[in-house]
Amino acid sequence: MKTRIVIIGGGPSGLLLSQLLHSRGIDSIVLERKTKDYVLSRIRAGVLERGIVKLMEEAGCADRLHAEGIPHDGTLVSYGDEMFRIDFTELTGTPVMVYGQTEVTRDLYKAREAAGGRIEFEVDCVEIHGTDGDAPHVTYTVDGEARRIDCDFIAGCDGFHGVSRQAIPLSVRTEYEKVYPFGWLGILSETPPVSEELIYANSSRGFALCSMRNPQLSRYYIQCSLSDSVNDWTDEAFWQELNRRIPANVAEKLVTGPSIEKSIAPLRSFVTEPMRWGKLFLCGDAAHIVPPTGAKGLNTAASDVHYLYEGLCQFYETGSSDGIDRYSEKALSRVWKAERFSWWFSSLLHRYPDQSPFDLKMQIAELEFLRSNKAAQKAMAENYVGLPY
Ligand code: FAD
Ligand code: DHB
Repeated sequence: MKTRIVIIGGGPSGLLLSQLLHSRGIDSIVLERKTKDYVLSRIRAGVLERGIVKLMEEAGCADRLHAEGIPHDGTLVSYGDEMFRIDFTELTGTPVMVYGQTEVTRDLYKAREAAGGRIEFEVDCVEIHGTDGDAPHVTYTVDGEARRIDCDFIAGCDGFHGVSRQAIPLSVRTEYEKVYPFGWLGILSETPPVSEELIYANSSRGFALCSMRNPQLSRYYIQCSLSDSVNDWTDEAFWQELNRRIPANVAEKLVTGPSIEKSIAPLRSFVTEPMRWGKLFLCGDAAHIVPPTGAKGLNTAASDVHYLYEGLCQFYETGSSDGIDRYSEKALSRVWKAERFSWWFSSLLHRYPDQSPFDLKMQIAELEFLRSNKAAQKAMAENYVGLPY
């Protein structure tokens, strides 16, 4: 088989890139290790920046997002029983959109299928070849049968555990990593959200986040120990712990119910440099991970897609390789700012095992500064709604 771009990974990065390229007549094939149902069963991000909303519009996939997504003009931050609001729209002119990653992915699959896009599911043994020469190609198996696709370029959109990053020799790549000493336990429940806006809560018992997917579907998270497993947490224990971590006047309104999904995610900051090696480009979680605090993971994946899409269109439409040559530099410049924001927001809100009484005072001082200082709120809001591409 032959195509212009082989896209490894059928998560949001790979599908968005494929659909955008299609809108400009550039052919691609997506290779996905899992089934479509499996990809759609993963509950992940919930907050979209304006940038990804615009890309979904450009990809012709934003109708349901606009009909069902909920624009949020601000967010709430609490510490103990204190709570304050940061008004994104007043401070930056831009709201964010609450619309789940699962729905983004579903919309993209639908569009790819409607356009007759080629997606191979349940691929195995994916190997990248010839990225440093003139004959890049990808080999893989489906049901034990070996296949090969020749291409111009390869987009590694296969997440943190994929093969693409590993295809770049260790002598070429540098990895930066910080692993956090806690995880997030998340549940989805068919209950009305406790608050119209998200609440990021710092409490003496650890972080909590009250989020949502729609007016009848809540998403809540609590900081948990890395040694915890989902089975250690009954629904009742989860609700009780969440109750203790949010302000008492909010907890009073918490509607509880059975969880329909429960999972634990570790927290990590990670960046690999460069994001391009010859004909191979890394996008999204394949190149970088942020801790989820601040909802930057999916949004940063989308900004990579934007830079790569722009570079590839320029290449095919004008013959100039300037955009693809500068892809790694442009993407990394924005990635590092998202890394900084997620690291800062995580540090502000979590309990760390080695935190001293001085460190705790610093957290409170910073929260009170943020509460009272418009310039600090503006800096937070600009990062939360997403820095410009
Ligand atoms: P992925 O979504 O990981 O997609 C990669 C795809 O590649 C997958 O479908 C995978 O099956 C496929 N793949 C892997 N290896 C291969 C291979 N060898 N061959 C073919 N296909 C392959 N972000 C937030 O902003 N907020 C959150 O609350 C949040 N929660 C998260 C919870 C978890 C458990 C995780 C893991 C991430 C979370 N994130 C969150 C981050 C966000 O979901 C990611 O940033 C986003 O999914 C990145 O998209 P992606 O397409 O780059 O990677
Ligand atoms: C969600 C996740 C986040 O990490 C975040 O900062 C906000 C919302 C969510 O899953 O709804």
